Amino acid sequence: MSDTVLKELEGRVALLTINRPDKLNALNQQVRDDMLALLDEIEADDAIGAVVITGAGEKSFVAGADIGEFAGRSPFDQREAMRSPRVFDVMASFPKPVIAMINGFCLGGGCELAASCDIRVASDRARFGQPEIKLGLIPGGGGTQRLPRMVGLGQAMRLILSGEMIQADEAARIGLVDLVAPADDLRATTMDLAAKIAAQSPLTLRVAKEAMRASQRMAVEEGILYERDLFCLCFSSEDKAEGVSAFLEKRAAEWKGR
Ligand code: COA
Repeated sequence: MSDTVLKELEGRVALLTINRPDKLNALNQQVRDDMLALLDEIEADDAIGAVVITGAGEKSFVAGADIGEFAGRSPFDQREAMRSPRVFDVMASFPKPVIAMINGFCLGGGCELAASCDIRVASDRARFGQPEIKLGLIPGGGGTQRLPRMVGLGQAMRLILSGEMIQADEAARIGLVDLVAPADDLRATTMDLAAKIAAQSPLTLRVAKEAMRASQRMAVEEGILYERDLFCLCFSSEDKAEGVSAFLEKRAAEWKGR
């Protein structure tokens, strides 16, 4: 494994840092391959309950796909580079909660990476945009599909068609970011949230995510029936028995993940 993505553990939280600060953490093939390998490892590791993704350095989360790799590529080369599994889709369907800790420029593929996470926490100095239009391109990491679902069609049109950047407070106002923290508190705020999440039952987290993800593709009536079935399925788990007993016995629950 190269050092383009670093993995640290803090309790039950894995922190992945995309580590190309001299290129503002642009996503090249190596970063994407390393991310996929690390996500595989994290999925299989029962000691990890949640994942936080960030960029190295003060300036950038991820400034997009590595534009240098686009030069001279044929459509077939590009199609090969975009073959499945793709890091955006793996993150969007990851069984464990994934939080983007957005420490600076969050552009193009970086904004799409953040949109593939479950929760986005941003520094008040972060800036967001989908500037692909300025390169004669459109977003290719799910941006035309995930962004309109997050911020509405009009705001997505505005960002993707103009390529303009917006500040963190505006990103929060339109729903692109869930929490904004002062730059100096970003890590503590994000890791506290991740630790709270990672302390819950891994099994129940997975089911809760599955139910909420379904809201993005199902009509509300179908989604509510699906939620009812998943809620009832929880009654078969040891963690539901433990959670209810622990509450009634006024003690902390000890989750088994089954
Ligand atoms: N791909 C490849 N390299 C990138 C990059 C990207 N997406 N974004 C930044 N870099 C590189 C720059 O080429 C520069 O490398 P160099 O020092 O070897 O010349 C380095 O990162 C620093 O970037 P620089 O442009 O000098 O910083 P800045 O503060 O002046 O500007 C940005 C910051 C983010 C506004 C500017 O880098 C930018 O517009 N980047 C491209 C964003 C983009 O279009 N993303 C979508 C890609 S599909």
